Amino acid sequence: MQPDSSNFIVLPTTPMSTDDARPVRFSQTTITELMIPAYANFGGKIHGGILLSLMDKVAYACASKHAGTYCVTVSVDSVDFLQPVEVGELVSLHASVNYVGRSSLIVGIRVEALNVKSNFVKHTNSSYFIMVAKGDDDKPATVPKLILETTEEVKRFIEAMRMKEIRAKVKEEMDDARSHIEVTRAQEILKDERCIIAVAKAY
Ligand SMILES: CC(C)(COP(=O)(O)OP(=O)(O)OC[C@H]1O[C@@H](n2cnc3c(N)ncnc32)[C@H](O)[C@@H]1OP(=O)(O)O)[C@@H](O)C(=O)NCCC(=O)NCCS
Repeated sequence: MQPDSSNFIVLPTTPMSTDDARPVRFSQTTITELMIPAYANFGGKIHGGILLSLMDKVAYACASKHAGTYCVTVSVDSVDFLQPVEVGELVSLHASVNYVGRSSLIVGIRVEALNVKSNFVKHTNSSYFIMVAKGDDDKPATVPKLILETTEEVKRFIEAMRMKEIRAKVKEEMDDARSHIEVTRAQEILKDERCIIAVAKAY
């Protein structure tokens, strides 16, 4: 996909080295797949797992193109299914490298479903896949720098960086919260929740 020239930004006066660097557009990838009846669940809609598998594939294709190596999926940053996908629709998954660290890459994925009869396109979900490039020794390998050619790409890089910081903080807080769960106060903590404590030991 060619960048929109109206979206170009002026690079700093001392441009970053472009040795060992690749533009976002180098690895942008789209996979389109027809939703066949075998992909449907008992309700007649497409299984979420089918979409997740396609998302993993497009994330891999995009990340490995940028990295020039084999990549693995380390983490997925939330997947919300906004609208159901129907049998017969053409699902397109658009993937772009939004951020690179030393060996990690954050791939943004947008999933859209086209109803070929009505020509209506719906946005079904978006997600961020965190991938890590691996070398021939199976260890994390340094990936090329990312060349940001549009303001949107700069915005996405900064956004991904912030998300990474927030994720690290949330993980730290969750680890701390887990180590301080007061099971002995369960009756009081859960009194307004929709659960029944049926543990033999009374709290
Ligand atoms: C991904 C993997 C190589 C990381 O190994 P590691 O020993 O933690 O390596 P490092 O600590 O050097 O981390 C490598 C990079 O991964 C990132 N990373 C590791 N775990 C992460 C996590 N849970 N979330 C986000 N990023 C993570 C690190 O921040 C680091 O990024 P950077 O190089 O850009 O700074 C290892 O965990 C692995 O092989 N996991 C299995 C992946 C897999 O099989 N996926 C398919 C699942 S079916």
